Amino acid sequence: MSPHESHWREITIALPAEHEEPASAFLVEQGAGGVWVEPKGPCVYLHVFFPLEERGRVEAIRKGLRRLAPRGEITLSTALRPEEEWQTAWQKHSVPIQRIGKRLLIGAPWHFPLPNHSRREAIRLTPGMAFGTGTHATTRGCLMLLERLVRREARGALLDIGTGSGILAIAGAKLGAEAVTAVEIDPIALAVARENAKINGVASQINFRKTIPAHARHRWVVANVTAPALIDLSEALTQSVGPGGTLILSGILARERADVLVRYCTRFTLLRKIRKGEWITLLMEKKRR
Ligand SMILES: C[S@@+](CC[C@H](N)C(=O)[O-])C[C@H]1O[C@@H](n2cnc3c(N)ncnc32)[C@H](O)[C@@H]1O
Repeated sequence: MSPHESHWREITIALPAEHEEPASAFLVEQGAGGVWVEPKGPCVYLHVFFPLEERGRVEAIRKGLRRLAPRGEITLSTALRPEEEWQTAWQKHSVPIQRIGKRLLIGAPWHFPLPNHSRREAIRLTPGMAFGTGTHATTRGCLMLLERLVRREARGALLDIGTGSGILAIAGAKLGAEAVTAVEIDPIALAVARENAKINGVASQINFRKTIPAHARHRWVVANVTAPALIDLSEALTQSVGPGGTLILSGILARERADVLVRYCTRFTLLRKIRKGEWITLLMEKKRR
């Protein structure tokens, strides 16, 4: 594996807490998919990660921050991080505060209230024994796509396969899906997801189940499971997306991508591929025929 594939540049910015929100918004404009916010008394540390090859990024961020806080209260440092190390760093913080794209804000219940002047949809998570805190590359890939796609005006339904903590289903409900169905085979995760939906006030919008509903067509389907599961489920998932609808597949290792794609490429057009380290998230649109 080349160093470009396995290392990321972490930029850490220390700043007074009142600058947190505008600085996070600026970092998202600069291309950060998410900002991990670490409160430190009257200050906060913002951590963002960029692919190594994006060399001009640090200088652009430094300049932009200087404009935001001209009195120099902001300091910036960088470090190279192996993919695994930064994954672990995020996960160590259980549910860290994260601003995903322009519309989502995630944290543990005890982090709230959080500064939220740009009215992001807030998601409170206590994941317990279920996967899905927003920190894993596969979850973040799905959240970044849902955040751009799901809107109330589209008047569509969302199907979330392998809901884990319920994070994607809850995000879908908050972003404006008319109805959400969340499927999970693990009964413990299902209980955690139900509880998280309740905490977030969206329990009535989400139908939790153990199996994929037959005959239902959805505007958006997201499945963050594993490549073998995506291959096994290819027929059921294909059927569950309406014509012109969107399918997001995640949980795929780079070396497994071709095996997954071949099961979907006749009925879907590949629109986008997000790679974070070894993990791939695919965005596809169903052909209208
Ligand atoms: C990687 S986690 C994803 C959790 C969450 N959706 C996220 O994006 O962070 C995958 C989840 O899928 C569940 N799962 C695996 N195979 C499944 C299947 N065939 N049907 C439904 N759920 C499945 C697992 O139990 C696990 O909770």
